Amino acid sequence: MADEVKQRKIEHVNIALTQDVAAPQQANWSDVHLVHQALPEVDLEEIDTSVTFLGRRLRYPIFMSSLTGGHPDVLTINHNLARAAEHYDVALGVGSQRAAIVNPALTASYSIVRESAPNAFLIANIGAPQLIAQAQHTPFTLAQVQEAIRMIQANALAVHMNSLQEAVQPEGDRRAQGEVAALRRLTSQIELPVISKETGAGVSREQALLLRACGAAAIDIGGAGGSSMSAIEGARAQQQGLEQSQSIGNVFRDWGIATPISLIEAGIANLPLISTGGMRSGLDAARALALGATLVGFGLPFLQAASKGYDELRAVMDEIIAQLKVAMQLSGASTIAQLRSTDVVVTGQTHEWLTLRGFEDQLKGMAQRRWRQLLESGETQTQLYPPCVP
Ligand SMILES: Cc1cc2nc3c(=O)[nH]c(=O)nc-3n(C[C@H](O)[C@H](O)[C@H](O)COP(=O)(O)O)c2cc1C
Repeated sequence: MADEVKQRKIEHVNIALTQDVAAPQQANWSDVHLVHQALPEVDLEEIDTSVTFLGRRLRYPIFMSSLTGGHPDVLTINHNLARAAEHYDVALGVGSQRAAIVNPALTASYSIVRESAPNAFLIANIGAPQLIAQAQHTPFTLAQVQEAIRMIQANALAVHMNSLQEAVQPEGDRRAQGEVAALRRLTSQIELPVISKETGAGVSREQALLLRACGAAAIDIGGAGGSSMSAIEGARAQQQGLEQSQSIGNVFRDWGIATPISLIEAGIANLPLISTGGMRSGLDAARALALGATLVGFGLPFLQAASKGYDELRAVMDEIIAQLKVAMQLSGASTIAQLRSTDVVVTGQTHEWLTLRGFEDQLKGMAQRRWRQLLESGETQTQLYPPCVP
């Protein structure tokens, strides 16, 4: 079992780095538009991108998504990610720590992140399926969960929800009953904030409320549109010649709630949200923040860069930050709080879905924030914006 988990970890990374694992049908950030301000009155160099997440001030609203650990070959990747997290003062997650929980010899590939990022906001990672009894294993004990936290001296614990992945994975955990009760128990037993984290299929409005009731302190919506764990497991199944798992992986490659949709749906829970899943630029990040995200999670772009080297990773991070700042300036936002109250217009299939799900008034409100402010101020436009007198 320990070797199986370890082997799987490296296979995931290798497949993600060498094959197309995207969920293209769901990549709909182009449905989300920030309204251009021709005279933005914001200096690009003065933009403040800092945010507070779970009580901690971070310089950028970026989360380096939970990706890996559990195999000696990924140690360098985690080392590079951690150095960048420390340098930029952003949050960083490690991949599922199950590998080291079942085989402590693999601890180094995780603990390297705290060694390389002594001050960064680090997020431990375990899976909801491991909190309940499965055919092949007993549930994690509280001591094992605490060990995962201690391993990286984490600031928060992510509990990932990955039923789709487990269903495709040939050796996956098939049971899901009891995860709600187990999550509720866990959040009451540990002091650290718990982030409920999807891994590519998104979180609906109703599930977001359920997660809040379970004591989640934040939700990583992990929506569809980016890396597909179904595609990754499907590729593994193909390598093993397991046709049924491969076909499930193909059919469900695009399954789930697209990231922008999930962001609005989960917003109802009023918890800090991380927008992960298909975020591919600083403009995407700005769009997500305008829709209400507190952090924006990037997985594959950082994995690809970190596997090449630290300099490559820094180049990608710099690019994302520069793009985010341009999007903020052109939207007239000099802070993330202002970006969250700027106009954002949602069109296309994203609009259609959200309208059918009852979010029409919210969409209208977001599209008309500035205009309503003008109307509600009770003053005429000319009083607010008096004509320029030479
Ligand atoms: C190779 C690989 C391994 C991953 N392993 C984990 C994991 O162990 N735990 C977890 O919560 N998410 C895991 N994820 C999901 C990512 O955290 C993230 O949600 C996903 O990659 C979507 O973001 P992206 O489209 O920017 O890649 C993994 C993703 C990839 C590509």
